[in-house]
Amino acid sequence: MEATCTAETLSTTCDTCPARMVCHCLQVTEDVLLRALDTMNLVSVKDICRHTGAGDGCTACHRRLRKYLDQRTALPMTQPSPSLSPI
Ligand code: FES
Repeated sequence: MEATCTAETLSTTCDTCPARMVCHCLQVTEDVLLRALDTMNLVSVKDICRHTGAGDGCTACHRRLRKYLDQRTALPMTQPSPSLSPI
């Protein structure tokens, strides 16, 4: 029997999904989400949907996406991001 991802395993890696999926419907990985959060001024799940596609399906991942957003916004800003530096 082939292993498949279920809602319980979406936020972890498994033998069939080497990349950690944050949105199973749109196949968006944690790496893609974290890169988007680092490089874009995403402040809502709607922003994440717009820029990565994550959350644009069944919406079951919205709570998880919100947790990533909350973790990112809770981080102290020690230095401005290089992408936000003046030209
Ligand atoms: S798991 Fe993200 S929209 Fe369905």
